[in-house]
Amino acid sequence: MEKPVKVGLLGLGVVGTGVLEILADHQEKIEKSIGCPLTVAKALVRPTEDKENLAKKYNLQLVHELTDIIEDPEIDIVVEVMGRIEPAKTFISEALKAGKHVVTANKDLLAQHGSELASLAHEQKRNLYYEASVAGGIPILRTIANSLAADDIQEVLGIVNGTTNYMLTKMVTEQMDYDTALKQAQELGFAESDPTNDVDGIDAAYKMVILSKFAFGMTITMDQVKVKGIRGLSGKDVTAADQLGYTVKLIGSTVKKNGSIAAEVGPVLVPSDHPLASIHNEFNAVFVKSSGIGESMYYGPGAGSRPTATSIVADLMTIVNKIQLGTIGHRFSEYTQPTQLTPPEEIVSKYFLSLKMPDETGQFLQLAEIMANAGAGLEQVVQEKATVENARVVVITHKMSETTMSQIQKDIAEKTNFELLSTMKVMGE
Ligand SMILES: NC(=O)c1ccc[n+]([C@@H]2O[C@H](COP(=O)([O-])OP(=O)(O)OC[C@H]3O[C@@H](n4cnc5c(N)ncnc54)[C@H](OP(=O)(O)O)[C@@H]3O)[C@@H](O)[C@H]2O)c1
Repeated sequence: MEKPVKVGLLGLGVVGTGVLEILADHQEKIEKSIGCPLTVAKALVRPTEDKENLAKKYNLQLVHELTDIIEDPEIDIVVEVMGRIEPAKTFISEALKAGKHVVTANKDLLAQHGSELASLAHEQKRNLYYEASVAGGIPILRTIANSLAADDIQEVLGIVNGTTNYMLTKMVTEQMDYDTALKQAQELGFAESDPTNDVDGIDAAYKMVILSKFAFGMTITMDQVKVKGIRGLSGKDVTAADQLGYTVKLIGSTVKKNGSIAAEVGPVLVPSDHPLASIHNEFNAVFVKSSGIGESMYYGPGAGSRPTATSIVADLMTIVNKIQLGTIGHRFSEYTQPTQLTPPEEIVSKYFLSLKMPDETGQFLQLAEIMANAGAGLEQVVQEKATVENARVVVITHKMSETTMSQIQKDIAEKTNFELLSTMKVMGE
C-alpha cells in the first residue's frame, strides 16, 4: 500500500462534514480503487465546540490560518467548501499557487470566476475539479466531459435548483400558493431565510454557466444568461398550465443553433409527458439532447451533505489517479470553442400568456389582431370569468421569436387596456 494522500479542508459545515463521513464510511473501497488511503489531515475552521468534536471523531487537526494548510508539504489536495466568493477565491488561488490541487463545490464562484481559476490551475500545472458544483450528487459534469465527449450536444435542459422544484411541486400537486410553498420549503431547510438566489433563478443560472462550458465549450458570463425566477408565480397560472397538459418547472436551458448558443433560466410549461415533468420535490435532473445518443436524462439529489460529498470525494480520487499516472494539470473540461451567442430574433419558442381583460365583446378580437399583426398564431385559448367586469384569458401561441414576443407585449401595453399577468415559454414543437 502506498503512503496516504492527505487533504486539507477549507470549511467544515454541511458538505465538509459529509466529506469526512464518506471518506470514513467508504474507506475500504476508496483505498482499493486508488491504491492508497485518502485522509483529511487538517480543516480550516472558525472554532466552535461541534468542530472540536468532529476533529476528535475523524482524527484531524483544526487550524485557523490558510498557511497551516497550503504550506504543509504533506497535504496534496485542498477542498474548498466554505461557499461565497471571498475569501474562497483568494484561498483557492493561494492553494493553487502553493502547488496544491483543488476541489470545490462553489458554483457562485465558478460561474463568476471559473475561467480565471481554471487558467491559474493550468498555469500551475495543478488540477481544479468541481463536479459537486452542478446538481450536487448527479455526476453530470464528468458525464458530459468524458462519456459524451464524442457526441454533438444540441440542448442541455436542467432542473438544477431543488428549492424551486420543491415549491413548484407543491404548487402543482397540492395547489399551494407561492408564499405557502416558500414557507414550507424554508421550514424543511430546502430554502434559506433569504431565498433570493433560488427563487430569482440566480442559483440555476450559475449552474447553466458551468454546464454551458462543459456541453458547448463556450465560456459565458452571468449577464449573458437571460434569467427569470418564479418569485410571485400565480397558483392560477400553474393550475391553468396543468389543465392544458403542462407542468410548470424552473428550467435552465442552453440551446445550440447554427453554432451559437442561448442560455436562459425561467419558468417553463413542460409537456406533462416529458421526462422533466416527472422530477418532483427537491430532486434535480439534467436532460441532454445530442446527435449521437439522442435523448438522455441524469436524475438524482441536487444537494445534501452526503450526495454532494460523494461527488467531491470522486473528484479527490480522480486527482489521486492523475498524480499516480503523472497526468496532472489538464483542465476538468478541455473542450473550448469561441463563444457565439444566438440573437433574440433567432430564439424561438411557444409562449403562454395570461391576461386580464374587460369582459366585453370585441376584446378577444383585439388580442387576435395584435397577434396576427406580429405574425404570431394562437394554438390554445382558455377563457374564464375572473370578476363581474373582467375575464382571465390564457393562451398558448405557436412558435415565435423573442423579438416578436417583445413586440406583442409592447402592443398589449400601448394599444389595449388588458393587464398582462404573466408570460412563460412553452416547451415543445
Ligand atoms: N449544502 C449542499 O447541499 C450543497 C450542494 C452543492 C454545493 N454546495 C456548495 O458547497 C459549499 C459549502 O456549502 P455548505 O452547505 O456546506 O455550507 P455551510 O454548511 O454553511 O458550511 C460552510 C462552512 O464554511 C465555514 N466558513 C466560511 N467562511 C469561513 C472562513 N473564512 N474561515 C473558516 N471557515 C469558514 C463556515 O463556518 P461557520 O460555521 O463558522 O460559519 C461553515 O462551517 C458552498 O459553496 C455551497 O454552494 C452545497
